[in-house]
Amino acid sequence: MDAEVAENQLVSRQRVADHGEVLTAAREVNAMLDLVKPETERIDSRFLEPACGTGNFLTAILERKLGVAEERYCRSQLDYERYAVLAVSSIFGIDILEDNVRQCRHRLYGVFEWNYTRLFRNRAKNRCRETVRFILDRNIIWGDALSLKTVGPTPQPIVFSEWSPVNGSMLKRRDFTFHGLLEHAATEELPLFSDLGEDVFIPTPVREYPLTHFLQVADADGR
Ligand SMILES: C[S@@+](CC[C@H](N)C(=O)[O-])C[C@H]1O[C@@H](n2cnc3c(N)ncnc32)[C@H](O)[C@@H]1O
Repeated sequence: MDAEVAENQLVSRQRVADHGEVLTAAREVNAMLDLVKPETERIDSRFLEPACGTGNFLTAILERKLGVAEERYCRSQLDYERYAVLAVSSIFGIDILEDNVRQCRHRLYGVFEWNYTRLFRNRAKNRCRETVRFILDRNIIWGDALSLKTVGPTPQPIVFSEWSPVNGSMLKRRDFTFHGLLEHAATEELPLFSDLGEDVFIPTPVREYPLTHFLQVADADGR
């Protein structure tokens, strides 16, 4: 099923007419990702695809990042888990169609699961699998990238979680509205980064979470 969806660029004419849904083939995906190859191979570089479909780009990015994690860290299960979770946590997507969002999360999880189980077999931890599922549920959002709101009975502002590693095994989660993050792009008054000591744009989180062990982030959600 997964391969079929990945290869099939059109689901229906109606969906093309309604949502411009034409999925990108693997060859084009990889050619485009090669234009930013070093970023796709940096485990913690953040990618957001605001019309991610079923995840043709995001799964290819995760495969690249996990390839690097395996090369560097496969001899230590804990290190691999830390970096694999970091790779997953740096990938973000939005799509307006709920089935695409589900499929995208499912495919991303499948990329992680296949690699993790292949490497560590019966030593693989369900805790780590749950952490990855939890992060994917948060990072791949059923929403409208134009209104910046979630889709569903009660649309809310889209909120992204930033996951930052601290001291090896700890993660700091801070939530930001998509709108707040884009304000910077709209005004471009201040740079996001500066090596010259200028003022920079610092978005304000709408919520901060206590520092948490990376395998316990789902417990710290508090919902
Ligand atoms: C051309 S497809 C591309 C999908 C994917 N990026 C790829 O290349 O395979 C466009 C996608 O955008 C989604 N879409 C259309 N309007 C959207 C909106 N306002 N917000 C979020 N997603 C939207 C559609 O559901 C569809 O999955």
